[in-house]
Amino acid sequence: MKIAILSDIHSNIDALEAVAKDAKEWGACQWLVAGDIVGYGAAPSECIDLLKNLGASSIAGNHDWGVIEKTSIDYFNFAARQAVLWTREQLGPSARSYLESLPLTLTFEDIDLAHANFTQPEGWDYVFTITRAAQELSAFKSRIGVIGHSHVPFIVKASSEGGWPEQIMGERVVWDEHSRFLVNAGSVGQPRDGDPRACYLRVDCSSREIAFRRVTYDVAEAQRRISQAGLPSSLAERLPLGR
Ligand SMILES: [Fe+2]
Repeated sequence: MKIAILSDIHSNIDALEAVAKDAKEWGACQWLVAGDIVGYGAAPSECIDLLKNLGASSIAGNHDWGVIEKTSIDYFNFAARQAVLWTREQLGPSARSYLESLPLTLTFEDIDLAHANFTQPEGWDYVFTITRAAQELSAFKSRIGVIGHSHVPFIVKASSEGGWPEQIMGERVVWDEHSRFLVNAGSVGQPRDGDPRACYLRVDCSSREIAFRRVTYDVAEAQRRISQAGLPSSLAERLPLGR
């Protein structure tokens, strides 16, 4: 089974369409989404519709919950808050009820999903250190735990034979029966690791491989939508920088 895992799409339909095409060509038959479908970008309803058409199983991120007022946006920066307020005005009842239906965590096969972390998903704290990653590896049960939120991809590997978890340097890893992983899937719609290409995660259960995939998309068109919507220009300017 080939599973495509997407995170932090952030209303960027141009990036999402490119990723969906690429993953279909790869042979993806299952679609998982680790939250933040909306926010920042200018096509929230289009992204929700495409995920529905793919039959994706999604969880909620802080921006999704911010839009439906299930979490506070007081700590959001100016541009993020403006985008949440704008998104509230755009969504119809069915898109809104889709966001309301999203759970905070889900399990599919041997994969667990949480947007920010597994220890306290509704607190939205980031996982940036190996110490935090080690705590997270004890907080989910499946072989692979996938998060998003920081928009920076990483893979941390733990072994049942003991020892401290290690960060994998490289874009792919193959598992054996002793290994478990915490993976940040990166961001489809607003990467922040210096690479502006859309990022998603491929999990291939037959070859036991976990791999990041980067996809070029029409950044200029995504920027045009943001400026036409009247959203803060910083949200468009950061896209070609991958920051
Ligand atoms: Fe995000």
